[in-house]
Amino acid sequence: MSNKIKTVVFPVAGMGTRFLPATKAVPKEMLPVVDKPLIQWAVEEAAAAGCTRFVFVTSPEKDAIMSHFSDAPHYQDVLEARGKTKELALLKAGLPENAEIIKTYQDAPLGLGHAIWCAHEATGDKPFAVILPDDMVQHTTGCLAQMVAQYEKCGGNLVAVENVPANQTHRYGVLDPGAEADGLVEVKGLVEKPAPEDAPSTLAIIGRYILGPQIMDTLSTFKTGAGGEIQITDAMAELIGTVPMNGFRFDGTRFDCGNRDGFLEANLAFSIAAADADSRDALKQRLRPLLD
Ligand code: G1P
Repeated sequence: MSNKIKTVVFPVAGMGTRFLPATKAVPKEMLPVVDKPLIQWAVEEAAAAGCTRFVFVTSPEKDAIMSHFSDAPHYQDVLEARGKTKELALLKAGLPENAEIIKTYQDAPLGLGHAIWCAHEATGDKPFAVILPDDMVQHTTGCLAQMVAQYEKCGGNLVAVENVPANQTHRYGVLDPGAEADGLVEVKGLVEKPAPEDAPSTLAIIGRYILGPQIMDTLSTFKTGAGGEIQITDAMAELIGTVPMNGFRFDGTRFDCGNRDGFLEANLAFSIAAADADSRDALKQRLRPLLD
């Protein structure tokens, strides 16, 4: 396991309006896929990739996220008294033993680039990972662990990419791809949320990044881009030529849990994966008629 990328940033200050009213009092990152909130799946993926410092860029209205990763003495006492060791372990919420938790607030909704910049004190002069918990990837080796292994060979700025339907480029950061070898795609340019007719390709960034510390200086100029927001895509684009920049075709199935269909698909896929062999077949049989 790599030791290089220790810090992971979770930009989780957004309002989650697409899931109202569910997200009126519950942060969207706390919506569960099977039995864990989205943010815990993201934390577990980062822990499996070797991260030990977990930086949450959040907002005061979303303190449920921080509560999820803090001690829960009321539960602890009851469970200890009852000797429920399995349930006690679940209270760790997927954090490794040596986890360091850092909370910082994004005080205004100025964009993903700004949210990442808000973590600059925690990331310092080291490379770091970013996970957008909305994007889930199902695979035996987590997407970030795959990227960390790749990063050790290529360094620079690295983003997870996959091809998306041509009519969906306006939802993503899109690559102007150069040479490709073994799943690593050289990035010649990047465009944030281009209309299909303006998109340089259909190869889109999904919510996993490994970024060098230079990105924070670039972000600190607070230049706005698509949608009038400070975009991480633009900051990475600005560094092309200075810092190696690659796209990484990960193994696994990606679910966009930022919309209802993707969220439903993730719940189905992860429920089926979590079931033991006997109940899995029974579950699939019960699901089939619902799909007709
Ligand atoms: C963000 C990024 C975009 C990226 C996407 C992945 O967009 O700005 O470049 O492709 O995440 O999910 P958002 O989904 O926050 O609008």
